Amino acid sequence: MSHAGDLLFLLCSTQSRMNQLGATKWIDESRQGTALQPEEPSATSSRKCYIESYGCQMNFNDSEIVAAILKEQGYGLTTDVAQADLVLINTCAIREKAEQTVRKRLQEFKSLKQNKADMLVGVLGCMAERLRHRLLEEEKLVDLVVGPDAYRSLPALIAEAESGQKAVNVLLSREETYADISPVRLNSNGVTAFVSIMRGCNNMCTFCVVPFTRGRERSRSPQSILRECEELFEQGYREVTLLGQNVDSYYWIDPQTQQATTFAQLLEMVAQINPWLRVRFSTSHPKDITDEVLYTMARYPNICKYIHLPVQSGSTRILQLMNRTYTREGYLKKVERIREILPDCGLSTDIIAGFCTETEADHQETLSLMDICEYDMAYMFMYSERPGTLAARRYTDDVPLEVKKRRLQEIVEKERTLALKNMQKEVGKVRTVLIEGPSKRSDQDFCGRTDQNKMVVFPKKHYRKGQYVNVRITGCTAATLLGEVVEETIPEMVA
Ligand code: SAH
Ligand code: SF4
Ligand code: F3S
Repeated sequence: MSHAGDLLFLLCSTQSRMNQLGATKWIDESRQGTALQPEEPSATSSRKCYIESYGCQMNFNDSEIVAAILKEQGYGLTTDVAQADLVLINTCAIREKAEQTVRKRLQEFKSLKQNKADMLVGVLGCMAERLRHRLLEEEKLVDLVVGPDAYRSLPALIAEAESGQKAVNVLLSREETYADISPVRLNSNGVTAFVSIMRGCNNMCTFCVVPFTRGRERSRSPQSILRECEELFEQGYREVTLLGQNVDSYYWIDPQTQQATTFAQLLEMVAQINPWLRVRFSTSHPKDITDEVLYTMARYPNICKYIHLPVQSGSTRILQLMNRTYTREGYLKKVERIREILPDCGLSTDIIAGFCTETEADHQETLSLMDICEYDMAYMFMYSERPGTLAARRYTDDVPLEVKKRRLQEIVEKERTLALKNMQKEVGKVRTVLIEGPSKRSDQDFCGRTDQNKMVVFPKKHYRKGQYVNVRITGCTAATLLGEVVEETIPEMVA
């Protein structure tokens, strides 16, 4: 039974593709969600589920897996929470604000439930483990709590909850990758899609909650990844983004042949599916990204020349406290390698302002590193202490909020200046763009991305969504390039 058409997702309205591509990218927790249309017309379904997602792209991808599991159970999805029999909130715990937003939403659902007693409310995702007792017992906000590795047990848990019991499964797994589940593509433009290649994280960055919420790192088999990417291509998709917290540590050993597959090899296999399938990936860890990956990128024109390389801080002392296992110099060396091997590569990063003990001098080092790296884009955050993390246990969150705010502001200003400068450098160039769909501002215009992940807006003319066009860049803002398609043949995208 297929109710894909019913499946509507609630995603954040202001979430840009740029956000999504930053891969492990964070939807600004303060923003309101909005309903997005499904690809197929809706069919009727007896039971309706409403899902709201927060956090990184991997979490959004998980919601698509949840949608696939619920579809099998005959559930349709609705964007109207009042119509729902089952309300699910897929949560993020990365910063305090993300958790606060979820709690507020749960209070709202609770008051809705007062008029609709048989409505079930469930918490999924990264807040599940830590807050299950409070959510279930103390605050009685929810009926079911399901952790990121337990989505296969959703049908059984829903049945349990329906019989009046509190249903919980927050067990983390060393094996689960949901490799055999085809995610139901929601909020999709039909051209670009995300494919999770691994789950969890084995690093222990002291500020980070992810290893606790998502468990040990495990990779998905190359066969299942290739199958998913091939299917996407057959369905008309022209770009896949391979997702993982640390894609460079992707590692698969075939149980039969004992043959290993590294991330560079996986990247090559995906690139070989079709020269017209663009490949992106995120997130890279500065300690793990190899020359082999960079050379593979250089060999394949369809592997996009864009790397998201979170630095977190420009100060070696702070990086050590963060347990990032690289120094300022080590990071800069990596960036140099990228520039040598891939001279025309887009580069973005994540930065945390005001980590424990950060001095003005440390902060200045972050600003100067940004200048050296000339980032095209950055995601910037104030440090938020997370209970249970190594930083929370070992260090004092001692940078005053006002100082954190001011430093963040300076980082944001630096980022804007650098981003605009990089955009201006594009003016006059001709770039190959994959058309993603109508531009938000005008239905006379299309938008799409360059290889380097810059959004371009240009007149539609007779071109089509999903097509590659060569666009001459004629102008820019800090976030968008403006251009005109030039009537020339696109060079073959083969090595
Ligand atoms: N795996 C990725 C990042 C995942 S978390 C990596 O290693 O780069 C995404 C981003 O959120 C991080 O890069 C960091 O910049 C930010 N972040 C994580 N924990 C945070 C915290 N406690 N406070 C503020 N920002 C945090
Ligand atoms: Fe968190 Fe570090 Fe793992 Fe990224 S690499 S998810 S920041 S622990
Ligand atoms: Fe992602 Fe947030 Fe979890 S960033 S991995 S949803 S804590």
